[in-house]
Amino acid sequence: MAVHIPGALVDAAYAGVGRPTLFRLGGGDPEVAHETTLDWLAWWGRTPARRALLELAFGSRGTPVEVAGIRFGGPVGLAAGMDKDARALMAWARLGFSHVEFGTVTGQPQPGNPKPRMFRLRPSHGVINRMGFNNAGSEAIAARLELAGVRRGNHAAGMPVGVSIGKTKVVALADAVEDYLSSLRRLVHLVDYLAINVSSPNTPGLRSLQGADELSGLVRALVDEAAVQAEESSQSTLGPVPVFVKIAPDLEWSAIDQALEVCAAAGAAGIIATNTTLGRDGLAPEDRPLAGQAGGLSGAPLTARALEVVSYVTAHTDLPVIGVGGIMTADDARAMLQAGASLVQIFTGFIYSGPGLVRDINRLTTDRLAVPRG
Ligand SMILES: Cc1cc2nc3c(=O)[nH]c(=O)nc-3n(C[C@H](O)[C@H](O)[C@H](O)COP(=O)(O)O)c2cc1C
Repeated sequence: MAVHIPGALVDAAYAGVGRPTLFRLGGGDPEVAHETTLDWLAWWGRTPARRALLELAFGSRGTPVEVAGIRFGGPVGLAAGMDKDARALMAWARLGFSHVEFGTVTGQPQPGNPKPRMFRLRPSHGVINRMGFNNAGSEAIAARLELAGVRRGNHAAGMPVGVSIGKTKVVALADAVEDYLSSLRRLVHLVDYLAINVSSPNTPGLRSLQGADELSGLVRALVDEAAVQAEESSQSTLGPVPVFVKIAPDLEWSAIDQALEVCAAAGAAGIIATNTTLGRDGLAPEDRPLAGQAGGLSGAPLTARALEVVSYVTAHTDLPVIGVGGIMTADDARAMLQAGASLVQIFTGFIYSGPGLVRDINRLTTDRLAVPRG
C-alpha cells in the first residue's frame, strides 16, 4: 500500500513555504515563479526514483471516467498554458492530475508578447496574462513527446495527454486553417486528444474564429484530417483522434448556441469551457490599478461566469464538456461537476492553493455520495 505524507502537512508547507517563496522569486515576477516551477517539476519527473518520491508526497487518485473514448484516471486535469512545451511531461500525473492539456502550441515557434506579460492579483486570487502563445512550436513538442515514448493511447506519461493548438501570430487569419492542420499532422499519432484554441484574447483576431462560419470551416478541416490520418495510420484501430474546442467566457448566449451547433455538426468530440475573460468584474479594490493591464483574467474573479457558461453549455449540447475557469476550491470543482461537466481543469487555483487542490478534487469523486452528478 502506498504511504503518503499527510495532506495537512502538504497544504501547510505550500501555504507557509512553497507559495511565499515562489511569489518572492524574481522580485515578485509571476513569470519567474512559473518558469521555476516548471524547471523544478521537470527535474523531479526525470527519473523513476524522483517520480516515485513526487507520488509519495503528492499523489492522489480520483474515480476513473471515460470521456470521448478516453479513460481518465480521475476528474481533474491541468489546463492549457501552464506547461506549453510539455517540459514537465513526466511529473504531472504524480501530482494527481488525470490529464494535462499541453500547449497552446502553434505551427511555428514564436516568442510571445514582450515582458512583463503576466500579473498576479493577489487580493483577488486572480491572474491577468497576455503571454501571446510563447511556445517552441508544434514540431518541438512532438519531438519531446516522441522522445519520452508517448504515443496515442499508451499513457506513457502516466495519464492521457492532450495538446492545445493555436494560430501562429504572423500567419494571416485567412491562412489559419493550414497552420492548425500542420500542428495536427505532427501530433495526431502522439496525443490522446487535441484542443482547438480559438478563445485566447492575446492573439489578434483569434477569437473571430469562434464565429459560426469560421469555426465550422476550421473544425471540419481538422476533424476530416484526423480521420484521414487515422485511416493511413498503423493506429487505425483507435479511430480518429478526438478534437475538442475551447471557448471564451465572453461570448453572448446566441454565439454559444451557434458555436455548439457548429461543433456538433462538424464532429467535435467535446467542448472546453472556458478560457480567460476580458471582463474585469470581481476584483478587490487593491487590484484595481492592475485592471487596466491588457490580457485575459483568470482565477477567482472568473469562478461565477465560468460556472454559468458551463451550466449553459451542458444544457444546450450533448457533447461532453470539460469545465475550467476559477476553480479555486474543491467546492468550485464540485459545482462544475454538478453542472454536468465530465472533467474539470485548473490553472490559477493550482498557483494559489498548490497540489493539495488536486488531491481535494480527486477526493470529491472517491468519497461516496460526494458528487451527485447533475
Ligand atoms: C498564464 C496563463 C497562460 C495561459 N495560456 C493558455 C494557452 O496557451 N491556451 C489556452 O487554451 N488557455 C490558456 N490559459 C487559460 C487557462 O487554460 C484557463 O482556461 C483559464 O486560466 C481559466 O482557468 P483558471 O481560472 O483555473 O486559471 C492560460 C492562462 C494563464 C493564467
